[in-house]
Amino acid sequence: MKIIGTGAYVPSTTISNDDLSKFVDTNDEWISTRTGIRSRHISSGENTSDFAVEAAKKAMAAANVTAEDIDFVIVATFTPDQFTPTVASMVQHRLGIPQAMSFDLNAACSGFVYGLTIANGLMQTGHIKCGLLIGAETISKVTDWSDRNTCILFGDGAGAVVLQQTEDSAFLQAECKAIPDVDASLSAGGVPITNPLFKEEPKDLFIKMAGQEVFKFATKTVTASITRVLEATDLTKDEVDYFVCHQANSRIIQKVAKNLSLPEERFFVNLTNLGNTSAASIPMALDEMVQNDMLKPGMKLVLVGFGAGLTWGASLIEWR
Ligand code: UT7
Repeated sequence: MKIIGTGAYVPSTTISNDDLSKFVDTNDEWISTRTGIRSRHISSGENTSDFAVEAAKKAMAAANVTAEDIDFVIVATFTPDQFTPTVASMVQHRLGIPQAMSFDLNAACSGFVYGLTIANGLMQTGHIKCGLLIGAETISKVTDWSDRNTCILFGDGAGAVVLQQTEDSAFLQAECKAIPDVDASLSAGGVPITNPLFKEEPKDLFIKMAGQEVFKFATKTVTASITRVLEATDLTKDEVDYFVCHQANSRIIQKVAKNLSLPEERFFVNLTNLGNTSAASIPMALDEMVQNDMLKPGMKLVLVGFGAGLTWGASLIEWR
């Protein structure tokens, strides 16, 4: 399997740190030094499927494939338009993809990396030649805009890749794991059970996060996961051209670089004007790297997601 096209899409409305400081007790200096984020894009009515469709269109154009070529549509998201139909089904319909396996995958911010492993497994059946993997989120609809601990972090958008089956796979090694988040350090959503015989208390829809706990989990886990994935190959960390981590916080990425004794320049960062876009962040980063002509055939990349669940996943790929 290899990536043959990338695309990304963000809504046009942006909200800066200064804008946020008008309705929560915060300021640009605090947000930018603690997170690296200055601004983020948020929906002005578009939903996750709208972002996913636009990113997918761009990835398909870049890959030079048509709707008839697509055998699967996988959308990694924790903020679907509704429970069902899935975002993937809506994308399939709107792109006129006639026959495809379509489903959503929720592994929160690790969703795109989980999706790569699933797509690789599908390709290995031999029946699948080409598919769309999309990370898409409308996090603004599950954000508590009065909670300064979380509303400063997130943004909306989508990234997509077209994957193609190959004899000699560019998908070299991976791990996808989770540990139960028993303390609910990162959670969102929930619909109360209501039926003629039972009525549950209303549940909180919005993101709740114990920031420092998640920060510690992220830095420890990402460092260990990169190390394990490389140990399973004959490559060393010095032979990896770029590490593309989930774009949650520039301090997490800096800490991982330090833990691995690697220069920060080998870690791609584009969260400044996007914020944390959960499952969309890695495919959006890949697309930006392609647009900036940073990726050359033969380069080795490690993609690492981490987030709610608590989930994480790392993939070592060769760019072709
Ligand atoms: O994609 C999902 C994965 N999520 C993450 O990776 C998030 C991981 N966590 C983080 O990135 C960081 O923990 C945060 C950026 C969320 C917070 O940074 P922190 O350095 O851990 O700050 P803190 O929560 O320890 O808060 C420090 C202080 C507190 O004040 P006191 O108690 O020291 O007086 C907070 O009340 O900063 C205060 N604070 C703020 N001040 C201004 C918290 N949020 C804000 C804010 N503006 N927005």
